[in-house]
Amino acid sequence: MAKCAYLLTCCLVLLTSSANASDVRRQDNDTSHVDAISDYVDSIYDDMWNISKTIHDNPELGFKEFKAHNLLTSFMEAQDGWNVTRSLYNISTSFSAVFEGSGDGPVISFNSEYDALPNLGHACGHNLIATVGVTGALATAKIMKGQNLPGKVILFGTPAEESLGGKVDMLEAGIFDDYEIDISLIAHPSNGPDTPYMRTFSTSRLDLEYYGKTAHASAAPYEGINAQDALVLAYNAIGLLRQQSQRTDQVHGIINSGGTSINVIPELSSASFQIRAKDDTDLDSWSARILKCFDAGAVATGTELNLTMRDNSYSAMLSNDILATSWSKYFTALGGRVPEPSLDRIKDQGGSTDQGNISKKWPSIQPQFQIYNENGSVPTGGPHTAPFEVAAGSKKSFDKALMTAKGLAGVAVDVLTVEGMLDAIKAELESSAASSDM
Ligand SMILES: *[C@@H]1O[C@H](CO)[C@@H](O)[C@H](O)[C@H]1NC(C)=O
Ligand SMILES: *[C@@H]1O[C@H](CO)[C@@H](O)[C@H](O)[C@H]1NC(C)=O
Ligand SMILES: *[C@@H]1O[C@H](CO)[C@@H](O)[C@H](O)[C@H]1NC(C)=O
Ligand SMILES: *[C@@H]1O[C@H](CO)[C@@H](O)[C@H](O)[C@H]1NC(C)=O
Ligand SMILES: *[C@@H]1O[C@H](CO)[C@@H](O)[C@H](O)[C@H]1NC(C)=O
Ligand SMILES: *[C@@H]1O[C@H](CO)[C@@H](O)[C@H](O)[C@H]1NC(C)=O
Ligand SMILES: *[C@@H]1O[C@H](CO)[C@@H](O)[C@H](O)[C@H]1NC(C)=O
Ligand SMILES: [Zn+2]
Ligand SMILES: [Zn+2]
Repeated sequence: MAKCAYLLTCCLVLLTSSANASDVRRQDNDTSHVDAISDYVDSIYDDMWNISKTIHDNPELGFKEFKAHNLLTSFMEAQDGWNVTRSLYNISTSFSAVFEGSGDGPVISFNSEYDALPNLGHACGHNLIATVGVTGALATAKIMKGQNLPGKVILFGTPAEESLGGKVDMLEAGIFDDYEIDISLIAHPSNGPDTPYMRTFSTSRLDLEYYGKTAHASAAPYEGINAQDALVLAYNAIGLLRQQSQRTDQVHGIINSGGTSINVIPELSSASFQIRAKDDTDLDSWSARILKCFDAGAVATGTELNLTMRDNSYSAMLSNDILATSWSKYFTALGGRVPEPSLDRIKDQGGSTDQGNISKKWPSIQPQFQIYNENGSVPTGGPHTAPFEVAAGSKKSFDKALMTAKGLAGVAVDVLTVEGMLDAIKAELESSAASSDM
């Protein structure tokens, strides 16, 4: 049964991809710009290393990435032909840098992230994401100049990816609409194999408190209302609910406080949770069931629940197959390897990204590239672990970031030059939006 369903999914995917491939024939084998892109990127190696290393060694939290913002905008301002806007739409650490081609044409955008994690520094490797964005944008502009191509390339500085959703704020401010982007390119480091597909969950986050009533825990416990018990009940209800959840439903969280004294009935408890599911529809239904568990804690104990959903939920990442195929073509031409696409595009989801929201509205990919320690070993931990932070600062990881960026610049050049490709990419997004809510 499971096998049948799996095979069916595979067939559907293959049918879709062959239809797309015939629409954009040239991209099947043409990598004519790859040498020019590669030579140019190699020529800016030292500047790019400075950016990657400087951001890595100066970690800053979301919306406080002042050094990274200043470094990147100063660098882009010094580039010929780029128009830089700092603190875009008053989002202090966001920016845009725009390069105009020879006339109207496709608008290619790259996103650079540069926020770090509390206590862990650049353990998600966003210094490398910043580097990929700058490199990809500059290389695209270089080819546009050389070939006198119409169109536009925009580098966005997108702050606060970790938990805060800087891109969701930018979406809500209308930035991507106002800049009339056609596609959105980004990449992310990983400890797994190189791949054009990033598969993430839809997610939302919440904070809650239970209010009870304090009392002497021995002399008059019956006068108390136990806020800690409410939280324990809710935590256990969620634990039991897991058996009746989809395999793609996730929930995880921490108890922030339970009480303050062992001999006093706790009057206040608090916790923070994150909920994830395979798409926005599942996220809604799964969240509704989780919230009932928190209600249950209040009902059973007589406490009062104050639950607040945080701003900026993220949608699951939707990868555009045509863009993914183009990136794989360039990455392979550069000597890289990618997994079999029919399996890669349906692999398990993991984590979440605010690029997901952008990918629902504009065709997007977020290739993942494997990073290494200086001695060539793969870090023993993935993103959000200390070993990954070490690897994110190595020259070997930086080299892979540049190779990834060369591939993305290739994608950009394809979109700018291949007749009919942009229409096919947009049609793919429309049809996937119509067939599911991904
Ligand atoms: C690419 O494919 C087309 C048709 O499939 C073929 O005519 C052409 O020679 C190929 N070009 C290269 C560079 O392999
Ligand atoms: C980056 O460039 C600045 C200015 O040229 C220099 O002071 C700094 O040492 C460089 N850092 C790295 C990591 O190369
Ligand atoms: C740079 O962009 C801003 C904002 O879009 C615009 O007002 C300005 O005219 C542009 N400057 C140049 C030199 O193109
Ligand atoms: C940015 O803030 C300034 C001052 O608070 C305000 O005048 C301006 O309209 C804001 N710009 C945007 C694009 O929101
Ligand atoms: C409920 O929680 C929110 C968010 O933590 C907080 O701002 C608000 O003051 C709380 N309400 C009460 C009644 O304490
Ligand atoms: C981002 O995605 C989340 C999850 O689907 C959704 O709730 C939110 O409205 C989206 N925000 C924007 C600005 O797209
Ligand atoms: C390679 O470097 C990493 C990180 O410094 C270290 O943990 C690992 O033991 C090293 N491996 C070898 C074979 O030296
Ligand atoms: Zn992260
Ligand atoms: Zn990340």
